[in-house]
Amino acid sequence: MLTLVSPELEEYSISKTEPTGDLLQELIAVTHKETELPIMLTGPIEGRFLKMMVQVSGARRILEIGTFTGYSALNLAEGLPADGELITCDLDPHCLGIAKGFFARSEHGKKIKVMEGPALESLGSLTGTFDLAFIDADKVNYINYYEAVLKLLNPGGVILIDNVLYGGHVAKPNDENSRTIAQLNDLIARDERVNRVLLPVRDGIFFVRKK
Ligand SMILES: C[S@@+](CC[C@H](N)C(=O)[O-])C[C@H]1O[C@@H](n2cnc3c(N)ncnc32)[C@H](O)[C@@H]1O
Repeated sequence: MLTLVSPELEEYSISKTEPTGDLLQELIAVTHKETELPIMLTGPIEGRFLKMMVQVSGARRILEIGTFTGYSALNLAEGLPADGELITCDLDPHCLGIAKGFFARSEHGKKIKVMEGPALESLGSLTGTFDLAFIDADKVNYINYYEAVLKLLNPGGVILIDNVLYGGHVAKPNDENSRTIAQLNDLIARDERVNRVLLPVRDGIFFVRKK
C-alpha cells in the first residue's frame, strides 16, 4: 500500500474512518487475486476521502481518469446524488472487465459510464462540463490531463490529482514519471487559474479548485 505514514498509523486511521462496505472489500480481494499491481488501488482512506469530497462539494458530474478495477469510481459514485453521473476512463480491458462486473452489482453503478481507450482521446470526445475530476492514470500524461481537465471544469470545480509526491521522488526526480509530476506540481504552484493545497495524504493528493 502506498502511504507516507507508518503501517500502524495507516491501520489506526482506517479503523477510525467510515467503513466502505462488503462489496468494496470484495473488490480489494479480487483485485489482489486477479491483477498484477493491486498497489494501484487507492484504498479505504483515499476512497472515503473521495466520497467525502463529492459530498461536501455537491458535485453532480464527475470525470475520472484511471478506472483500474473500479474502486475509486465506486467511492466517488457513492457520494453522488441518484441522478449524478461519473464518467471514468481507462484502456485496460481486463481491469475494466472486473470494474464493470462490480459496477453492475452496486446500487451506485448506474451512475457510472465507462470510456474505454487512451484517456486523452476520450477527453477529446467529451461534451459538457464537470464539477469534480480525479486524475489517477499514467503519470507521463499528468500535465496533459491537468490542462484538458481544467478546460472541462466548471468555475468552482475541484480537481484531485493522485500520487503527486510519488513515493517522495518528486523532491529529487529520477525518472520520467517523477520528473513529469514535479513539473506539474511546479506548474500548479504558480497557476493563477486555481486555488491549491498539496495534501501529504497517502502518496500525495493535489487538491485544486478552479477559480
Ligand atoms: C493507479 S491505476 C488507477 C487506480 C484507481 N483509480 C483505483 O482507485 O483503483 C491507473 C490506471 O490508469 C490506466 N491507464 C494507464 N495509461 C492510461 C491511458 N493512457 N489512458 C487511460 N488509462 C490509462 C491503467 O490501465 C490503470 O488502470
